[in-house]
Amino acid sequence: MSPRIVVCGRIPDAGLELLDAAGDLWAWTRDDQIPIDVRDEQLATADAAVTLLNDRVDDTFLDAGPNLKIVANVAVGYNNIDVAACTARGVTVTNTPDVLTEATADLTFALILMSTRRLAEGERLIRAGTPWQWGMFMMLGTGIQGKQLGIVGMGRIGRALATRAQAFGMDVAYHDEYPLDAATEAELGVRRIGFDELLETSDVVSVNTPYMPATHHLIDAAALDRMKSSAFIVNSARGPIIEEEALVAALQSGAIAGAGLDVFENEPQVHPGLVALDNVVLLPHLGSATIETRSAMAELAARNVVEVLAGREPITQVTA
Ligand code: GLV
Repeated sequence: MSPRIVVCGRIPDAGLELLDAAGDLWAWTRDDQIPIDVRDEQLATADAAVTLLNDRVDDTFLDAGPNLKIVANVAVGYNNIDVAACTARGVTVTNTPDVLTEATADLTFALILMSTRRLAEGERLIRAGTPWQWGMFMMLGTGIQGKQLGIVGMGRIGRALATRAQAFGMDVAYHDEYPLDAATEAELGVRRIGFDELLETSDVVSVNTPYMPATHHLIDAAALDRMKSSAFIVNSARGPIIEEEALVAALQSGAIAGAGLDVFENEPQVHPGLVALDNVVLLPHLGSATIETRSAMAELAARNVVEVLAGREPITQVTA
């Protein structure tokens, strides 16, 4: 009997085609969230589930799919999945690293440019029909050349961000529990410093660490307080790494100069205090949102399903 594969959210054809060839495929094909009763009915006989980052995979999900062998998340982050619960039931969990690194680093650098150069603010000015003319002092932003970028979390995306920052003439420091080897540090032109030092000395702080209990509110009021009043913070990782309430307060009081956010603490809700501020750029979680990248992510997730259903090791397994 061919295995049943359930895709819980709309994914690109590149993934669906591989899955269709691998088994009996059922896929939710709308952009809105799959209703729980529809999902659970499909999971009841599923051998494999493909999930998106807004599908919560917990005991309830796993109870609904007692035959599951794999949950393949179409995202690099997997904080939506209770990996320990999956492991306890013998369910393999996979994610989609590497294929989205460049797109996410591009988006992160765009956030840096947008916030330091006030680009969204300028766009809003024109669209609001505000009269304007070129002026020597109009909408002056902050230059980034020679300034320090402090990267919190030096994984794949952090490293890809560092190469972009180098090209723009920034001086790059990072903080990570695990140091890069000396050759990689030299190649990227980066140096590792302490977390507090990074906050205190950086002109731009970028959050690129995975979200997990240890990084919940890593950037809290005290951390924001350490930053220079001229500094910016950007986040393209996960919203709850920054304490949003404290960020709003810091942006309102001028404790920091600005922020660029692609992710939010209570996504898709955005704190009304952020929406009201001009010195913050707000994007709707677009980090990996290119046609090419989303296709590659779907394809990688599908290949993980194919491998596990064939009794082989997946390409990109995650563990608790
Ligand atoms: C996007 O946020 C991802 O984790 O892939």
